[in-house]
Amino acid sequence: MARFMHLISIDDLSKDDIVHILKRAEEFEDVARGLKVSKLLEGKILTNLFFEPSTRTRMSFETAMKRLGGDVINMTAQEASSIAKGESLADTIRVISKYVDVIVIRHPLEGSARFASEHSEVPVINAGDGAGQHPTQTLLDLYTIMKECGRIEGLKIALMGDLKYSRTVHSLIKALNLFDNEIYLISPESLRLPEEFLEEVKAKEVTLDEVIEEIDVLYVTRIQRERFPDEEEYRKVAGSYRITAETLSKAKENLIVMHPLPRVDEIDASVDKTRHAKYFDQAFYGVPVRMAILCEVLL
Ligand code: CP
Repeated sequence: MARFMHLISIDDLSKDDIVHILKRAEEFEDVARGLKVSKLLEGKILTNLFFEPSTRTRMSFETAMKRLGGDVINMTAQEASSIAKGESLADTIRVISKYVDVIVIRHPLEGSARFASEHSEVPVINAGDGAGQHPTQTLLDLYTIMKECGRIEGLKIALMGDLKYSRTVHSLIKALNLFDNEIYLISPESLRLPEEFLEEVKAKEVTLDEVIEEIDVLYVTRIQRERFPDEEEYRKVAGSYRITAETLSKAKENLIVMHPLPRVDEIDASVDKTRHAKYFDQAFYGVPVRMAILCEVLL
């Protein structure tokens, strides 16, 4: 039986739920790599309802569903749907939930996925709501840490970059706290983590130089240009941080560098060839993790 119907926020999951999903994901790795065949979700249909661009989230949900024998309907172009005629999000969800078994939604407005779940007869999964939450990214981030560091607790983890608008950070920081990690925050002054998170989680603001020799994970984020109300404010911080292979010369041998991707210029290509770079593996891990999530809500 499903442990939860919708997945809107990482707060919807207990520590046990998270551990359960990560263990289940590990069982799906061979299927995710196409080495084993599974028909677990045969007869089920997923719709990807994306009102914002996506490569990894949309495609890894589609891959996960298809590798498990299910089917996918994509609705990416608002112009080609009745939303262009003025249909509300509530009505769109009411209707789509008559056709499919699970809805994956990405929308620029914070709270939109929760709103969608209130009008759906089938499970709704939040694939990113504005600067709000991105819980499935958090689960694959934790999975990456588990696979690459061997555990998800007792680690020193630095979150670097746009901590103000990055929904991946907003979800991840809450989950990392559940697992008793030491969290460091590294960001330009104008992109600091909002106070509401600082009140809720334990984290320390530092510079990269102060912690580079001791951290186990460096999680870098892009400046979320699309969330800035004022383009001038974006220009003031654009290009203000960049990790290169040289930056990592003092790091622990087994430091891992993560990034939810896409990157712009915050991680130089020179890092890709180092043993620290794990962001492309991280993108792959989205497939087994999303398989585990889909099985949780559909079976
Ligand atoms: N990490 C992530 O959400 O990537 P996409 O925007 O490509 O889905």
